[in-house]
Amino acid sequence: SAAEKGGYDYFMLKEIAEQPKAVADTLLGRIDAGGSLTLDELRIPDAVLREAHKVVVVACGTAFHAGLIAKYAIEHWTRIPCEVELASEFRYRDPILDHRTLVIAISQSGETMDTLMALRHAREQGARVLAVCNTNGSTIPRESDGVLYTHAGPEVAVASTKAFLTQLVAVYLLALYLGQVRGTKWGDEIRAVVKDLARIAEDVERVLETMEPVRELARSLADKDTVLFLGRHVGYPVALEGALKLKELAYMHAEGFAAGELKHGPIALIEQDLPVVVVVPSPRGRSVLHDKIVSNIQEIRARGARTIVIAEEGDEAVVPYADHLIRIPATPVLLQPMVSTVPLQVFACELATARGNEVDQPRNLAKSVTVE
Ligand code: G6P
Repeated sequence: SAAEKGGYDYFMLKEIAEQPKAVADTLLGRIDAGGSLTLDELRIPDAVLREAHKVVVVACGTAFHAGLIAKYAIEHWTRIPCEVELASEFRYRDPILDHRTLVIAISQSGETMDTLMALRHAREQGARVLAVCNTNGSTIPRESDGVLYTHAGPEVAVASTKAFLTQLVAVYLLALYLGQVRGTKWGDEIRAVVKDLARIAEDVERVLETMEPVRELARSLADKDTVLFLGRHVGYPVALEGALKLKELAYMHAEGFAAGELKHGPIALIEQDLPVVVVVPSPRGRSVLHDKIVSNIQEIRARGARTIVIAEEGDEAVVPYADHLIRIPATPVLLQPMVSTVPLQVFACELATARGNEVDQPRNLAKSVTVE
């Protein structure tokens, strides 16, 4: 009913708007006054976390993209090697697991069959499994050794939005906590990131306030057949997520690529007026990547692409090459996906509406895939 949707036309719009609260709620009570993390609810002893020599993330769909992003944070902050794998592929290739392997199973519903089978397989091999889940008491956290709940609240729309952002928050908390218990040399950086995380909800709010031009742009592209997405570093999984959203909701051909791979194939797809969304890394920090992606934008634009550029406020280098410029607040490099994903959700939702599609219940899709 309209009341359930809180005055929005679709649950998806409501859930996109709820993201600042979902993010804040997922952080709530997990950072103490001194800026340290307290995740007592994990149920996995610190001694076990200290011993871990490998992290493996398994998930499906949008949760898999959260896992791909988590890898950058986990390896950077903990120096523990991290693999990310589609749950449906994981157990069929005889993965190498032992009691010092920490498996993180990410699932909004906690009922996705492939993710469940992956975690069962991991536990049979002696690995410890930690669930990141949004649904209290669901099967995946019940069968795991420990759990860190995301506090997004119920997500009704089939396409995941607020759950994704909270999955990022949760896996980042986990990564920082791992760093904390292991006493990595990143101590000060960890405390700084915790502070930055606390500000992310406000940044998401600011992005949401500036989405009208994105909706307008989406409507203008309603009769296109294909949209490509390019990103690099943590922006690469964001590009994959932007493309997945467009497939799910707008039923359009959409593909995400690592910008560095452009010359190895994707550039052959560029033709006059093809919309290409580019997620631009921060010009601060890893500025080498920023410069490389700016030249990618120039290359595709020279071949006729219509460039839709998502870039930090204050990033002036992209301006001459952006047919459409979508601004996001400047965040630390690893936190950018929490703001850059939001315009892509709005973009896909508006395109779906413009094409007359059912936003909350896209054809052929289910909220939770409980069969293999
Ligand atoms: C389905 C949903 C997606 C979701 C995926 C994984 O495909 O349509 O939105 O990302 O399942 O679901 P889970 O509940 O395990 O996160």
